[in-house]
Amino acid sequence: MTSSLPDLEAILLVGGQGTRLRPLTLGTPKPLLPTAGVPFLAHQLARARSFGVRRIVFATSYKAAMFEPAFGDGSAFGLSLEYMTEETPLGTGGAIRNAAEALTSGPSDPVLILNGDILSGHDIGDQVRTHLARQAAVTLHLTEVDDPTRFGCVPTDASGRVTAFLEKTPNPVTNRINAGCYVFTRSVIDSIPRDEVVSVERETFPGLIESGEVVLGYADRTYWLDVGTPAAFVRGSRDLVLGRLGSPALPGPAGEHLALDGARVSPEAKVQGGTAVGARAVVGAGASVVGSVLLDDCVIEPGALVTDSVVGTGARVCAGAVVHDAVVGDRAVVGPGNELRHGVRVWPDVALPERAVRYSSDV
Ligand code: GTP
Repeated sequence: MTSSLPDLEAILLVGGQGTRLRPLTLGTPKPLLPTAGVPFLAHQLARARSFGVRRIVFATSYKAAMFEPAFGDGSAFGLSLEYMTEETPLGTGGAIRNAAEALTSGPSDPVLILNGDILSGHDIGDQVRTHLARQAAVTLHLTEVDDPTRFGCVPTDASGRVTAFLEKTPNPVTNRINAGCYVFTRSVIDSIPRDEVVSVERETFPGLIESGEVVLGYADRTYWLDVGTPAAFVRGSRDLVLGRLGSPALPGPAGEHLALDGARVSPEAKVQGGTAVGARAVVGAGASVVGSVLLDDCVIEPGALVTDSVVGTGARVCAGAVVHDAVVGDRAVVGPGNELRHGVRVWPDVALPERAVRYSSDV
């Protein structure tokens, strides 16, 4: 199937600040956060390659200098990679226009655009073939969600043409939303104004529809996740480790947990639910770690409980502490007796002192 595609070029949007994922993104841009044992982008690069993409231009801005040392020329992925940087962030449309300077595609060639924070199981090759067959200006991947009230929605007509981009509303007209993967005809990218802040979602796409261009929706219900929040980030890593979404970049067999080199997990610890254990991380006897991301060199002391959470590089969760649906920043210490729940975030280097646990019978 994919062999019928021409050698595809892609632009990967990776310049966002990732504010919703702070404090994890204070030191590392979202696309480089370790996810199921490798930088998040490794999963996207490997998938793109499997669909015939051969050359990718990174559109960088926030912490731009960190990308090239991580991926180099791309040969480890069978790809050729280029890096383009905006001096000031230009938004999604401006970033695509800026990165297009490094494309080699001709005006009528398709170019794949990927948001750098999406995990998707959809058939990119089929999306490109649909775009070519319908001679569209842009073909957007649309995903169907159960609760569209949390997103802007994207209605289409009977022929699949997108009719509008609607803001969030309590009564959405469709459960289809923009899934952050587009095929553009190259000449359409060149029509985006240069060196200006432009949003494809708010300006480019509505403008194309207004002027009668063919903007197509490519809808499906395969696996899809935007890893923009801590809870979604943890879910993405967990789903990859468990094999709910296959990834050619997973550094080991799918299973209850994935342990990187030098990790020490006590045989008396319970580590499951798709937990990723970072390099040299330690999980002590009697500790329970479920569905979580443990980054390199962190320590989960004996008897600590960690569920649906991220524990940062070099952080420590002490014996008797509970971390549930929370983020513990790099090198932070959660002292004995603390209970972190409901999306709590501990900033890097913070030390939460021991908390005496008092039961009503003690007082
Ligand atoms: P939040 O700050 O948490 O909303 O995250 P974000 O900064 O990543 O923004 P958002 O999730 O809306 O961005 C969608 C995609 O576009 C991500 O892959 C971002 O990296 C990317 N992106 C957003 N704005 C820019 C920009 O100005 N320049 C570049 N190069 N990429 C951008």
